[in-house]
Amino acid sequence: MIEKITKSFIDKYGVAPTVFRSPGRVNIIGEHTDYNNGFVLPAAIDKNIYVAISKRDDNQVNLYAADFDEDFSTGIQNIKKAAVQWPNYILGVIDQLQKEGCNLGGFNLMIDGDVPIGAGLSSSAAVECATAFAMNQVFSLGLDKIKMVHLSQKAEHVFAGVNCGIMDQFASMLGKKDHVIKLDCRNLNYEYIPFKLDNYKIVLFNTNVKHNLASSEYNVRRQQCEEAVAIINQFHPEVKSLRDVNKDMLDKYIATGYPLIYQRSKYVVEENERLLAACKDLEQGNISALGQRMYQTHHGLSMEYEVSCKELDFLVDYVKKIPGVAGARMMGGGFGGCTINLVKEEIIEELINAASIVYEHSMKLPLTTYIAMIENGTGDCKQKENLLT
Ligand code: GLA
Repeated sequence: MIEKITKSFIDKYGVAPTVFRSPGRVNIIGEHTDYNNGFVLPAAIDKNIYVAISKRDDNQVNLYAADFDEDFSTGIQNIKKAAVQWPNYILGVIDQLQKEGCNLGGFNLMIDGDVPIGAGLSSSAAVECATAFAMNQVFSLGLDKIKMVHLSQKAEHVFAGVNCGIMDQFASMLGKKDHVIKLDCRNLNYEYIPFKLDNYKIVLFNTNVKHNLASSEYNVRRQQCEEAVAIINQFHPEVKSLRDVNKDMLDKYIATGYPLIYQRSKYVVEENERLLAACKDLEQGNISALGQRMYQTHHGLSMEYEVSCKELDFLVDYVKKIPGVAGARMMGGGFGGCTINLVKEEIIEELINAASIVYEHSMKLPLTTYIAMIENGTGDCKQKENLLT
């Protein structure tokens, strides 16, 4: 991929680029908790977005997306939201950098990668983080990774219109090989936990469903959580987010008057507790306990938080009956994308074959599968000198 993007870049712009990469992510447990100041347990994976970049002498900004075979050009003094979506993940970051007072000039930027789009593996966060990292290096901006995480998240809010939490950008930027990140979204304290699964691997099943509902319903869930906090805050001024809420408070102030809000906030409060227990399971190497908690999370996401869909539910139900699958659940924002499964190595091939047939037959959609390895976060890529001559 590095060679491919370097070659295409030279063919297109006639100069050698510097190449950077930022990975997609998985999340073991802790879903829809990040924007509630809760905990998440993500990791960066071996699928990346690559950004090749070279500075220009003028103020021109030329972008090219290999996936769409599309160009987009503008001026560095004229960065605004584009009508097509893909440039917005790049322009949104440039906009944020400029708002921070960074002095940027023109550049050529090409983007390519193997993070599937719309699969819930955070391809958009990977584009934002790769762009932020590339700009930081090429224009010597002196930003640290946490600053770039914040800028990338803000770019998603302002230019992509999704009021996302911080998990995806954090995991993409700060992932560590063979470790999951236990991230406290209240204060961004984090800890790397070794992800040792004996002979289990992370297998992703992509439903190939991309629901338009995803971004609008995501923002609605966020508002519902904020509503619960606002109600409780009237009685407990110290409560600033669902992180500060316990089940007694929910029962006392929310249960009777606000059944839907109760359902949503109860899931979030329980998910935070589940994550802390899951970290203990992981430390003790208790994969089957961890797996059971993933099933519980799926149940909550499907029945209480209501962000699943029939294809995701089908895949989780299907693997539940199979010995050798420790646990599974839908992953990410929901309404489509992937399930994450912990699967014993020796049954992976058989499981993928069987699940593909059953899924395609029942849901009339292809099943795409990936075995995810945990890798390092955002970084630069070594260039092959011979390509540049
Ligand atoms: C999306 C968002 C994240 C997070 C998850 C749900 O991936 O970008 O911030 O909220 O959904 O856990």
